[in-house]
Amino acid sequence: MLSREENERLTRARPGTPMGTLLRRYWFPIAATADLDANPVKAIKLLGEDLVLFRDRRGRLGLIGERCPHRRVSMRYGIPEEDGLRCCYHGWMFDGQGRCVEMPAELPGSTFKDRVRTPAYPVEELGGLVFAYLGPEPPPLLPRWDLLVMDNVWRDIGVTVIPCNWMQCMENSLDPVHTEWLHGRYYEYVMSRNAGKDAGGERMVERVIGHHLKIGFDVFAHGIVKRRVRLGGSEDDPTWRIGHPILFPNILRVGWTFQFRVPMDDTHTYHLMYQVLPAPPGAEPPQERVPVYQIPITDERGEHITNFVLGQDMMAWVTQGPVAERDLEKLGDSDQGVILFRRLLREQLAIVEAGGDPMNVFRDAATNKCIDIPVEYSLIEAARARRLATGQAPWSALLDTVENAWARAPESAG
Ligand code: FES
Ligand SMILES: [Fe+2]
Repeated sequence: MLSREENERLTRARPGTPMGTLLRRYWFPIAATADLDANPVKAIKLLGEDLVLFRDRRGRLGLIGERCPHRRVSMRYGIPEEDGLRCCYHGWMFDGQGRCVEMPAELPGSTFKDRVRTPAYPVEELGGLVFAYLGPEPPPLLPRWDLLVMDNVWRDIGVTVIPCNWMQCMENSLDPVHTEWLHGRYYEYVMSRNAGKDAGGERMVERVIGHHLKIGFDVFAHGIVKRRVRLGGSEDDPTWRIGHPILFPNILRVGWTFQFRVPMDDTHTYHLMYQVLPAPPGAEPPQERVPVYQIPITDERGEHITNFVLGQDMMAWVTQGPVAERDLEKLGDSDQGVILFRRLLREQLAIVEAGGDPMNVFRDAATNKCIDIPVEYSLIEAARARRLATGQAPWSALLDTVENAWARAPESAG
């Protein structure tokens, strides 16, 4: 349990807040590169700021404040030009550095434009994603996590806007026991009400997740590793020996998957399921574009869709409330991972308040070529091998949420 004040301190991310200051030390994925193909201008909300991402006609990306400094019209309806984004209302144009480079309605020779700027932030592309950095200069390096940079793979990206605070998603990832209930007993119950069919329309496969005999957590260089021994297993299993990590502050790694939980504002999270598959022999990577698709959260009646694993997790995150009232919670022994994550947040807050760089802020290019993360692969590997063995192209399955073997695998959201 946290006091109300401490809950506010750990969850609020607007500019000037303690957590907002810590989170502004990190690069966040804000879009897929493919998002800008259909429309090169996209409204973005990040850490409580309203922004517009655009690609100019020379192919350069920019991220600027949403409101035009002139009379506050939204730049999301701007026109991409050779040298920036032009406001649709009176034609002022801004480049990717936030400089006003044209004011076509002002008198010839006017220097007014030289005194007008709009907020602008650095953006970089990596692995089919566009990342943004809203923090102090100089920006750290964009972390080259292994799945973002490895060769000879296929990738895809599933996105959802989740109407709750980002920490609820992260705390779920420090809570292994939920898998045996939410993705085990509850999954079975949902299937029993749906003639035994899951979201893919298939007969339910074995969903019962072995009872956790033991859970453990260790802080390591990049976050926290979670470990578990299930009924019938032992500490020799990869689930204990290797475990799987969360990368501080906002990434879950499971097998060949990242889940990025990006704080849009205090009550909305941009969730990206980033999946990677080794290309099968004979395939011809790389992909020209990493495809992006929407993962649904509710049905046409507004009810949560709970017949797939990520949908179950999203239901659990959202129904805790826009910001969970942690002053009312009752934590038990099984919540030790949640408690450790909160401790890590407080430690990293203190580092930033003392003027230091927190965990996972990289400034040395030599150590940022490819950041390898130890992770157990057993279940995910098995799902992939099954698809390959039956001649199914794994990527086509990934494009379809409900047929996604990884998303349905009980560990994938664990
Ligand atoms: S409001 Fe943008 S140019 Fe006038
Ligand atoms: Fe889960």
